Amino acid sequence: MTASYISVVKLAIFISASSLVCCLPQSGKHDLTLQDDPPDQRYPQHVHLSLGVAETEMVVTWTTFQETPGAAEYSLPMSPQKMTVPSTVTIFIDGGDEHRKYYIHRAHMTHLKPSQVYSYRVGDESGGWSPLFSFRATPSGPNWSPVVAVYGDLGNRNGRSIGRLQTEAQYETINAVFHIGDFAYDMQEDNGRVGDDFMAQIESIAGYVPYMTAVGNHENPYNFSNYRNRFSMPGGDGEGLFYSFDYGPAHIVIFSSEFYFFLNQGLELIAKQKLWLMKDFEAANKNRAERPWLIVQSHRPMYCSNNDDDDCSISKELENNVSLVGGACRVLRYALEDTLYEAGVDMYISAHEHSYERAWPIYDRKICNGSYDHPYTDPSAPVHIITGSAGMQSGHDAFETEVPFWSAYRTQNYGYSRLHITNATHMLVEWVDDEQDGKVTDSIWVIKNKHGAGTYDCHLKEEKRW
Ligand SMILES: *[C@@H]1O[C@H](CO)[C@@H](O)[C@H](O)[C@H]1NC(C)=O
Ligand SMILES: *[C@@H]1O[C@H](CO)[C@@H](O)[C@H](O)[C@H]1NC(C)=O
Ligand SMILES: *[C@@H]1O[C@H](CO)[C@@H](O)[C@H](O)[C@H]1NC(C)=O
Ligand SMILES: *[C@@H]1O[C@H](CO)[C@@H](O)[C@H](O)[C@H]1NC(C)=O
Repeated sequence: MTASYISVVKLAIFISASSLVCCLPQSGKHDLTLQDDPPDQRYPQHVHLSLGVAETEMVVTWTTFQETPGAAEYSLPMSPQKMTVPSTVTIFIDGGDEHRKYYIHRAHMTHLKPSQVYSYRVGDESGGWSPLFSFRATPSGPNWSPVVAVYGDLGNRNGRSIGRLQTEAQYETINAVFHIGDFAYDMQEDNGRVGDDFMAQIESIAGYVPYMTAVGNHENPYNFSNYRNRFSMPGGDGEGLFYSFDYGPAHIVIFSSEFYFFLNQGLELIAKQKLWLMKDFEAANKNRAERPWLIVQSHRPMYCSNNDDDDCSISKELENNVSLVGGACRVLRYALEDTLYEAGVDMYISAHEHSYERAWPIYDRKICNGSYDHPYTDPSAPVHIITGSAGMQSGHDAFETEVPFWSAYRTQNYGYSRLHITNATHMLVEWVDDEQDGKVTDSIWVIKNKHGAGTYDCHLKEEKRW
């Protein structure tokens, strides 16, 4: 409040005290107190959707900075019948000096009619309401064709893809978003305010379509607590670090690559996650006739060709060709590549490198094309895609000059991927280039007539590794 305004108020009080009592509200003194009060912080912010455990459920998460009950109110458009579910509130204290206190509200909108559009808002009558948003309930069963925007590494500055993603979400050219790690840069910065900005920026995406997330290395401060508290993912560990869900003809599995890199979280988490993954793959494989595609996502790649001297290549100074063998991305290969291969995982999608890169079908550093002319038709190994270029302040990540033989297409441009899970046999991966007006500059059909554990024979090939 400006000093001049306060002096006007003081002047008004002075006048009221002397003669003009008739013309001022009785509560003149009370008005002055209001000026000194902090603003009401019970209004809902950071509204975002995520899929629930059941297909007929949608979860909405939001923040208030003061205590208030909160609810989600939802209805079919034009319907006078409104359904209301109260939120459950958890208190999250950011790890910074200010120990800012967040009231994280979660409400489960249940009994949704498949494929129907609902309008909804969150909040309450005393604290205030959010805008009226809308979403489409998840279609039932495997027989529909989800289209999903997939990316990682999106900042609250230079977030190049945000505008296009907002349009895609609001006009429903996508059904969901998979954000594979690294948010805001970083969510805990400035005592969580950078995260707050980011959550406000993505509200016009995530208020309309489910925003499914994976954890990245930038979420590591205070034991990943900003990530664990701000999002709400179904099942798994209950904190969004590892979980899975069915979506149309696919089973989607998300895990934390960061357990392998920030060991201070607790080494037992590596074992816990791996056991969970194996159980989840086993269950998914019993259900492959119904949900044939098995898609796995995590923040870090297993194969990459960027020249950042740590992830993809060991320092060139060693001059002994190890750069081709790969840097930190080897860790995930050693840890999980066999598990994914044996489970018959169709696709592994990651981010972390601020670029887009598509590999030929690959396992154990061997290319296993379906055939030379149709490498992605019945390939004998998973397809690896890196899509970490949605935009953030440090910009692009450059590539090694030499294109490794496994790398089929790569670009440093800003953009994101669009995954069309068309039907039981066909899946389309597109790269949307935000530096070329959203033009699709790379696209492949992955075609598979058989899915399942033990269907690959890449391990039998004696092709030369590098
Ligand atoms: C970090 O968070 C994870 C997930 O909640 C928890 O299992 C682990 O014990 C925490 N580690 C530490 C060191 O607090
Ligand atoms: C690196 O690889 C090239 C080509 O395979 C080979 O000619 C060269 O001797 C290798 N250098 C070292 C130091 O191993
Ligand atoms: C895989 O297929 C692509 C496209 O035809 C080709 O360029 C590449 O050399 C193939 N790799 C192997 C090892 O056959
Ligand atoms: C699956 O989708 C592809 C691509 O659109 C189409 O060619 C094919 O006929 C579809 N398969 C079935 C069984 O509908």
